[in-house]
Amino acid sequence: MIPTRGALFGPAGLPRVLGLLRDDSAAAQAALFSAADRVRRAHVGDALLPRGLVEISNHCRRQCAYCGIRASRRGLPRYRMTHDEVARCAAAIRELGLDTIVLQSGEDPALDLPGVAALVRRIKAETGLAVTLSLGERSDDEWRAWRAAGADRVLLKFETSDDLLYERIHPPGPLGPISRIDMLRRLKSWGYEVGSGVMVGIPGQSWESLARDIHLFAQLALDMVAVGPFVPHPDTPLGQLAVAANDAGVPPTEDVTGRVLALARLACPSANIPATTALEALCPGRGRADALSRGANVWMHNLTPSPWRSMYDVYPGKGLVPPTAASQAPESFARCAPRR
Ligand code: 5AD
Repeated sequence: MIPTRGALFGPAGLPRVLGLLRDDSAAAQAALFSAADRVRRAHVGDALLPRGLVEISNHCRRQCAYCGIRASRRGLPRYRMTHDEVARCAAAIRELGLDTIVLQSGEDPALDLPGVAALVRRIKAETGLAVTLSLGERSDDEWRAWRAAGADRVLLKFETSDDLLYERIHPPGPLGPISRIDMLRRLKSWGYEVGSGVMVGIPGQSWESLARDIHLFAQLALDMVAVGPFVPHPDTPLGQLAVAANDAGVPPTEDVTGRVLALARLACPSANIPATTALEALCPGRGRADALSRGANVWMHNLTPSPWRSMYDVYPGKGLVPPTAASQAPESFARCAPRR
């Protein structure tokens, strides 16, 4: 039996979360997945929410040790879409009948306060879409201005709540060492819907820290939770280390990622939880569909035009996920995730 939400996420719940996280027996895992599926249905229903993702720039000023678009990556052509190009994508997303655009990019200083504010205002005026910003760590002034311009949501993954591990893989940017967790709390106070999440199986990640990450999802009362496996990128320091290391910590597998996803659903019953592309990169052909029976309720359609889509190379296999037009995507849980 899966304990109640209070028993899992109250003050004494951490060892219980840790137990469920580590238990790789088929029976325990099946019970966890079906509990997450029930909670998903009870709290957010059977509608699969589609989102339109546009990767507007792969320029980045940061050096995150795992990421393929980090500043010092050589040999990757860089691009930045114009406002007209983004506006055309927004119109296409509206045409497809989706109601949200996610603007994602590296931490690109050329996407500055007035520019992004103007882009958000234009998208809102021309399409009325809900706008999610996923542009990295930005200043309080920028966040407030973009909220005033009409941005609705922010997606900023904290990746790990283990401070030492976090510091090891995230050299500070121009804002200095900042706490993403504090930033998420401020974003919420300014009226954004706030999404965050973690990578599963970062080299050096402990089971205990991952259990604390999941507890933090509940404490932050996240509106969106994105959980994906760490996918080693050969052109990054952590990707090279991952191949060499025989790490005793959390492995970046489908099963462990599925258990984190399911626990995220129990932690945040009403949150929107995407079936992430990284899962598809790990398990081509079924990674995302399987997530829909483990707590996920959001499907991201990558509508970044080519050739830019393949240049947004954060991890290998990402560009291979087929560009789903709304008409090709599963429109219901019934088609994608057979009921048990
Ligand atoms: N494996 C998995 N996810 C990654 N991301 C970046 N690099 C990787 C990787 N190697 C994800 C991180 C980051 C977002 C930009 O993409 O979660 O926040």
